[in-house]
Amino acid sequence: MALPKLLLLLFVGGALSLTFFSGSAEAGEVGVCYGMMGDNLPQPPAVVQLLKQHGITMVRLYDADAGGLRALANTGIKVGVSLPNDNIPDAASSMSYAVRWVQSNVQAYPGTWIDSVAVGNEVFHQAPWLTHQLLPAMKNIQAALAGAGLGDAVKVVTPIALDALKVPSFPPSVGEFRDDIAWSVMRPMVDFLEQTGSYLTFNIYPYFAYKYDSHVDPDFAFFRPNNGQHDPGTGLTYFNLFDAMVDAVFHAVEKLGNSGEHTHGNGRTRRRVASLMRVPESGAPGGKGKTGVASNSKLDGSASTENAQAYNSNLIRKVLSGAGTPYNPDADISVYIFSLFNENLKPGDDDERNFGLFYPNGTQVYDVNFTRPGPGPGPGGPSWCVANAAVGDRRLQDALDYACGNGADCSGIQAGGWCFEPNTRVAHASYAFNDYYQRNGRSVQSCDFGGCGSVVYQQPSEFTSPSAS
Ligand SMILES: *[C@@H]1O[C@H](CO)[C@@H](O)[C@H](O)[C@H]1NC(C)=O
Ligand SMILES: *[C@@H]1O[C@H](CO)[C@@H](O)[C@H](O)[C@H]1NC(C)=O
Repeated sequence: MALPKLLLLLFVGGALSLTFFSGSAEAGEVGVCYGMMGDNLPQPPAVVQLLKQHGITMVRLYDADAGGLRALANTGIKVGVSLPNDNIPDAASSMSYAVRWVQSNVQAYPGTWIDSVAVGNEVFHQAPWLTHQLLPAMKNIQAALAGAGLGDAVKVVTPIALDALKVPSFPPSVGEFRDDIAWSVMRPMVDFLEQTGSYLTFNIYPYFAYKYDSHVDPDFAFFRPNNGQHDPGTGLTYFNLFDAMVDAVFHAVEKLGNSGEHTHGNGRTRRRVASLMRVPESGAPGGKGKTGVASNSKLDGSASTENAQAYNSNLIRKVLSGAGTPYNPDADISVYIFSLFNENLKPGDDDERNFGLFYPNGTQVYDVNFTRPGPGPGPGGPSWCVANAAVGDRRLQDALDYACGNGADCSGIQAGGWCFEPNTRVAHASYAFNDYYQRNGRSVQSCDFGGCGSVVYQQPSEFTSPSAS
C-alpha cells in the first residue's frame, strides 16, 4: 500500500532519503518460533498475551494453525505461516491447489498480519526427495498470493538447513553450496527471491556445530568474549560463530554469480537479496530435560541455562543494534529464536525438547529481553518518538510515508481509525514515528526521520496507543 510512495522516496527523494539511510543499517527484528509439539502448552490467546507482555513483534508458525492465526489478529504482531513439506508436491504441480491453500491459510485471516509464507522446512535436509519440487511450489504460492493482491505484502521463503553448504561452519570464505543443489536449485531460487523482494532464510545453529564438533570453542559458539578466529580467505576476524555461519551463506550466494539488480557494498557488487537475511531458526537449549541424561555426552556441558542465556541475549542485542557481519557490514539481519516454549513431545535428544524461552506455564526459563533498553531516565526507562512540526508539512508527509511503509502500524490513523483524531499531519506523524521507534528497539536512529523526529521521556498527551507505553 505505502510501497509506491516508499520507492518514490528512495529513488526520487534525493537528499531526504540520504539522511534516512546515512550511517548505520536499519535495526533488525527479533521474533520467536511458536512450535506446538507439546501436550501442556497454553491456548493461543494466552500465548498472544505472553508475546505482547514481552514486546515480541514477530512469530513463526510451522503450519497455519487456525487458533493461532485467529488469536494473532489485530495485535500488530507479524506472522509467518508455513506450508508443510508434505504439501509441496501438490503445491508444485497444481496451481489450483496453491490458490486454495492461500485462500484458506492466508486470505481467510484478513485481520492477521501475515508477512511470509514458508514453503517447506529444511527440504534438502528433511525431505531431499522433494528438492526439485521446492522452487515450483514456491512459484505457485507466489503466483497465488499475487492473484490475491498479496504479492508484495507476503513474502515467499523456504527455511534451509546449513548443510546445504559443503563446509557449514568455518572459515566463511569457503562457503559454497553443495554441487547437487547449487546450480539446479539455489541459483534459480536466489533469482526468484530477488525478483519477489524476498530474503534469504537459513537456519543458523552454532549450538549444533559445537555439539557435534569437538574443535569448536564454546565461547565462540555461545557469543561470549573470545580471541576471535581469522578467516584466511578474507583477512577478517570473527568473534562469534553466528556471524561466521551467516557469512558462509553470503559467500555461497556470491559464488552463484550475479543477475538482476545489484547494490554496491564495500567495493564488491552484490545482489540486493544477498544482504537480506531472515534467520527462521536460531537458538540454544536451556536445559537437559526431564531425565537430565543426554544421549550425547557433550551435551552435559553445552545444554545449559547459562549458555542459552548468553547466546540468545547477545544474539538479540546484535540483531536489534542493526549490525551486519564482518564480510557484509550493511547486511539487514532479522532472527526468529527457536523456540517460544519447551515442547515435551519433540522427538530426538533431550536437548530438542528444551530450546524454549518459556516453560509451558509462561515463566521464563531464564531472563532475556526482546527490546533494547531505551535511552530514558534509568536503563530501560520508557521513551517515545514525536514529530517535529517545525520541519514543515512536505517533509513530515514524506517521513510519515516512510514510517508507514517500513513496518509502523498505521492502521489507527486511517480515516475512521481509532487514532485518526486529532486529524493533523503532525499528530499522525507522531503516531507513526513512535510506532516505528518502539518496534525498532527504541534506538536513537529509529527516531531520526531525517531530523523530523525527536525522542522524549515524558508520555505525550496525544498518545493513547498501547505500543506507546
Ligand atoms: C513454571 O514451571 C517451571 C518448570 O516446571 C517451574 O520451575 C516454575 O516454578 C513454574 N512457575 C510457576 C509460576 O508456576
Ligand atoms: C532485562 O531488562 C531488565 C530491566 O531493564 C534488567 O533488569 C535485566 O537485567 C535484563 N536482562 C538481561 C539478560 O539483559
